[in-house]
Amino acid sequence: MREITFVEKISDFSKTLDIDIVSRFVAFEEISSTNFKAKELALKNEEHGTIVISQVQKKGRGRFERTWESPEGGLYFSIILKPKIETLKATLLPLIGALSVCNTISSIADLYVKIKWPNDVLINGKKVCGILLESESEKNNLKYVILGIGINLNTDMSILSPDIKLISTSISNEIGIKLNYFDFLNKLLINLDKYYKMFVEEKFESIIKEWKNNSDTIGKKVVIDTSTEKISGTAIDVDESGFLIVKTDVGEIKKITSGDCIYLDKKE
Ligand code: BTN
Repeated sequence: MREITFVEKISDFSKTLDIDIVSRFVAFEEISSTNFKAKELALKNEEHGTIVISQVQKKGRGRFERTWESPEGGLYFSIILKPKIETLKATLLPLIGALSVCNTISSIADLYVKIKWPNDVLINGKKVCGILLESESEKNNLKYVILGIGINLNTDMSILSPDIKLISTSISNEIGIKLNYFDFLNKLLINLDKYYKMFVEEKFESIIKEWKNNSDTIGKKVVIDTSTEKISGTAIDVDESGFLIVKTDVGEIKKITSGDCIYLDKKE
């Protein structure tokens, strides 16, 4: 008998789901990038809650035009969201994604799981998940948001490039066993649904409070590369929009909207 394909498994899985945030799945065995495909669909007015998911990505994309290595074993999906909110509020969506992943991992294994600002999820200090948000606005309102989530779930770390291996891990690598892909996805979508509802209900303070409880960054010495400048100092807080507050070495308080966060004291 032939083996059931990934696309067929997603189709079966979707029939068992009853989660408000999910409307339908568009699944692939292999694709260039789920974010890219989701954007293509969103431009054709695809509905809110559509999830583009792929077993493998050939051109997975990360923040700052980096590559997201996406071999079999990982979880790669992009959800199209159409919240009726002003553009400025979208900055919280990737933090919601990170919080959902962080809580999902913590609920299944006793691991040291933390979030590095703005939305990297780390296990024992190594990156296990990255999030890429892309959006389109009209006037001051969001038309759509693509929330792309990549997780090294059962990824065989030995096949990743040396520089990635050095700073990353997979969940299976940390716990020593492979996880059920669909159980994990189910739990993650339940969490995403929960935090998205809080977001729509404008419970921003509660979201940030939970984010801070899981923060790996607050209190650390950092350099933030915003692409126009490098700001170094101590990360002291995250505000209601998810912006990082840094106290510079000369005591100046800076609010950082986005950037690449580098830790200065690696042993912390
Ligand atoms: C980062 O940390 O740089 C963000 C990585 C985001 C990777 C995910 S995998 C699913 C979606 N499709 C992509 O091409 N990228 C995101």
